Amino acid sequence: MATVLLISGSTRAGSTNTALVRTAAAMDPDGTRHYDGLAALPAFNPDDDIEPLPPTVAELRAALAAADALLICTPEYAGALPGAFKNLLDWTVGGAEMPGLPVGWINAAGVAAPTGGAAAHAELATVLGYVGARVVDAACRRVPLVRSQVGDDGLIADPHVRAEIATALDGLVSAVDPAPPAR
Ligand SMILES: Cc1cc2nc3c(=O)[nH]c(=O)nc-3n(C[C@H](O)[C@H](O)[C@H](O)COP(=O)(O)O)c2cc1C
Repeated sequence: MATVLLISGSTRAGSTNTALVRTAAAMDPDGTRHYDGLAALPAFNPDDDIEPLPPTVAELRAALAAADALLICTPEYAGALPGAFKNLLDWTVGGAEMPGLPVGWINAAGVAAPTGGAAAHAELATVLGYVGARVVDAACRRVPLVRSQVGDDGLIADPHVRAEIATALDGLVSAVDPAPPAR
């Protein structure tokens, strides 16, 4: 069974993006893994991108290496990706995990977001292209959320949102190369 790694680009406790990731994990606990180490990563420094890697960076790369695909949910800050999340992406550049990895994203920017998250997702596409990830168009969804859609349990119950999450996950799983036949 394919495993989809889920990463939120937000460190905010009540984040709608993290709620999306949490909901995806709850919908498919066997086929997903929620990476939640974003806030613990050190500031990227090429001098530190050597063995032994900082432990949290090694954990990130191990999580990516164990994944068959990646689903990202990130907000936009000041017309760009959040610095903390761009920092995570910078730590992936020197690793061998991203080239060819199927990647999708859900843009959850609500109607009040000035640019609807468009600039962040354009930047995300640029960075993913730079690291050689394989963006899966069918797994890139626009699902505007408002904070009230996140329940007290931290999950999103809205069936439309859940259907979009399922579409993104299905799109990623469909894009995973089948294992080569055993000899
Ligand atoms: C400091 C800051 C800057 C923001 N800048 C933008 C922006 O440039 N464009 C945009 O569409 N939304 C912007 N937003 C709105 C957030 O992207 C939006 O509220 C997002 O849905 C929040 O995601 P979260 O619930 O996961 O924290 C900004 C929010 C904050 C706090």
